[in-house]
Amino acid sequence: MSKVTLTVNGRTASGECEDRTLLVHFIREKLGLTGTHVGCDTTQCGACVIHMDGKSVKSCSILAVQASGSDITTIEGLAANGELHPVQAAFKEHHGLQCGFCTPGMVMTAVDMINRHGGALDEETVRAELDGNICRCTGYHNIVKAVLSANAEMHAAKQAAE
Ligand code: FES
Ligand code: FES
Repeated sequence: MSKVTLTVNGRTASGECEDRTLLVHFIREKLGLTGTHVGCDTTQCGACVIHMDGKSVKSCSILAVQASGSDITTIEGLAANGELHPVQAAFKEHHGLQCGFCTPGMVMTAVDMINRHGGALDEETVRAELDGNICRCTGYHNIVKAVLSANAEMHAAKQAAE
């Protein structure tokens, strides 16, 4: 057993786990943050995407012990002051979810994508970057619409603040 200490959604969190424990299982089972889903646990589906040190990663592709000391954001950490994150709000507005199983991973991937590309994000790039996130309900059209809408809103807000 090893002790793992992380900063999760701005707070220090720690727990003991076996060395073979995947980060996604540590987050769900030791920290109780079940918004991060497990679809495959073999890095295929993207349901488990979180942010680690500011970048989106599939949390089933990393051991919890490897992540110790890092700064993690999960879907539970996106909303602030009682308001949905703009990407969450856009998924809601544009019906970017059906059963919702893939949604946390889609949203975390989209937030990272928008942060990296800003106003230069276009449909082709969104579709290419969502390649690692599978929606079994096949609602890709509205997911892409939601990401582009959130991108426009976040970019405009950033420009207004400058
Ligand atoms: Fe991690 Fe599917 S659970 S990619
Ligand atoms: Fe059902 Fe994507 S909304 S898996």
